[in-house]
Amino acid sequence: MSSIHSDDNLTEQILFAIRDSKESLSFRQLCKQFDICEDYLLKEIMKIKSWGYEIFHSFDRIEFIAAPNSLIDTEIKYKLETKYIGKKIFTYQETKSTNDIASNYACSGEDEGVVIIAESQSQGRGRLGRVWHSPPLKGAYISIILKPDFESEFAPAVSILAALSLAEAVKEFTDEKVQIKWPNDVLINGKKTGGILTELSADNKKINHIIVGIGININQTTDDFPNELKEIATSLAIESKKEINRSELIKRFLTHFEIEYEYYKKDKKLTQIDRIRSLSSLIGKEITLSFGKNQITGKAVDIDSNGALLVLDDEKTHVINSGEVTIVKK
Ligand code: BTN
Repeated sequence: MSSIHSDDNLTEQILFAIRDSKESLSFRQLCKQFDICEDYLLKEIMKIKSWGYEIFHSFDRIEFIAAPNSLIDTEIKYKLETKYIGKKIFTYQETKSTNDIASNYACSGEDEGVVIIAESQSQGRGRLGRVWHSPPLKGAYISIILKPDFESEFAPAVSILAALSLAEAVKEFTDEKVQIKWPNDVLINGKKTGGILTELSADNKKINHIIVGIGININQTTDDFPNELKEIATSLAIESKKEINRSELIKRFLTHFEIEYEYYKKDKKLTQIDRIRSLSSLIGKEITLSFGKNQITGKAVDIDSNGALLVLDDEKTHVINSGEVTIVKK
């Protein structure tokens, strides 16, 4: 496990100044702006280059050329429009699971809004004990630490809000059909492109922390998926036939998520339910729903204001809070 997190604020400020400038900047100008000498500036430029940025510099001028393709905290923080989510990011080249790292950070006192991102995971977890396939340079594996004041009964809705936020962000990058498959998968053209694994730590009703883990398939090709996933999983790049800037997508997701989470903290109600319903891939469909040892088959008729799925079978309308759905093929 290796952290490539940079906490060098000055280096970041210099990078952002070079990046924001429409033309090349002179060494002298930058040294004056940051009150540093030319030798120091040169060291900073070398550091920025070691992060993977392409910077052109001659003996007296500097110009931004390109950002790295890998996921680094500096790139995600650049022009990130949130108040607190993602203002502090720890990035890793490889880790077992970002949810585990986030949980450790949360226990050791890191605040709400801290984000962990890995370039790849060796033991990425999905819901129901499944594996989340996490190859490098293709997807995004993100965990967000939350420490809300509300009680644990309000926690499940956070997963649905993460799915809504991811769907809203994905919609900005593709014209294809984006849906949410209850409880919290994000689909493009009916195939899964994102999933949420929320893990709660609480004592009785008091929440210690919530870790929201988000896996997104972004630039995978069909060959990147193992055989058993090829029929059911997809990526943004496959569906929209173009490469996606992963950092930009993550930024948009974090921005949407902060907005939805802030509303929820204030109202403790899913005021977003109409948007969730209209994105649902299940409402009106005949489904089989497995929950615990039980299974029912019926019609998915609605999602209620707590995020529960309402399923009508021959007997009655069942109100189901979590489970695994398959659509019945006619
Ligand atoms: C699912 O659809 O089953 C949920 C998948 C969640 C995967 C993400 S990737 C980042 C975070 N770390 C993990 O180990 N899992 C979640």
